[in-house]
Amino acid sequence: MKTNLLPNERCLPLYRTNPVWVTLSKWVLGFSLLLLFSCAQESKGFVLPEGDVESGKSAFVLMSCNQCHSVGDIEWKGVSSENTIHVPLGGEVTKLKSYGELVASIINPSHKIDRKYLNEPYASQGESKMLKFNDFMTVQDLVDLVTFLQGEYKLEGITDIKYYPVW
Ligand code: HEC
Repeated sequence: MKTNLLPNERCLPLYRTNPVWVTLSKWVLGFSLLLLFSCAQESKGFVLPEGDVESGKSAFVLMSCNQCHSVGDIEWKGVSSENTIHVPLGGEVTKLKSYGELVASIINPSHKIDRKYLNEPYASQGESKMLKFNDFMTVQDLVDLVTFLQGEYKLEGITDIKYYPVW
């Protein structure tokens, strides 16, 4: 019997010593963590009332969102000498923004910043340059804005896909 083992090494269970088990348990642990974190981001039971597209469009202009954004037929109204921020919203995208993502970009803009807007003039040190509206935006404004914005995004190329029969 070996004697140079540390006392607790002697009682290492099979799954800590057998390389197959070690690899397997790492995978299981990794996968469960992945599941756990992806679930933690989900806002279970978070449902906002229905919004109104037209009111959302008015709110967008009223709150001067178009100081930094253009969307659909609403043009960018930034004063170019002082403000070089122009982040176009809507249009053709490869992945649609979920309702939750849009809400988050409005009430918590620094939470997740698209890679292309991570630097000046759009953001600095991970902080979005987007104005904070939370102190005066009503929940109704938010709901209407999101409903309006959601309708402005279209999945790229979807309408162009044609399936021909192969004989
Ligand atoms: C002072 C400039 C500024 C104003 C005003 C502003 N935004 Fe933004 N907005 C930004 C910047 C910069 C980003 C990109 C960085 C980020 O994601 O926060 C952004 C990002 C967004 C995004 C996510 C876009 C994407 O593709 O990831 C949405 C949605 C959005 N803004 C909505 C609004 C709405 C609605 C308003 C008005 C209530 C508004 N913004 C007002 C600067 C502004």
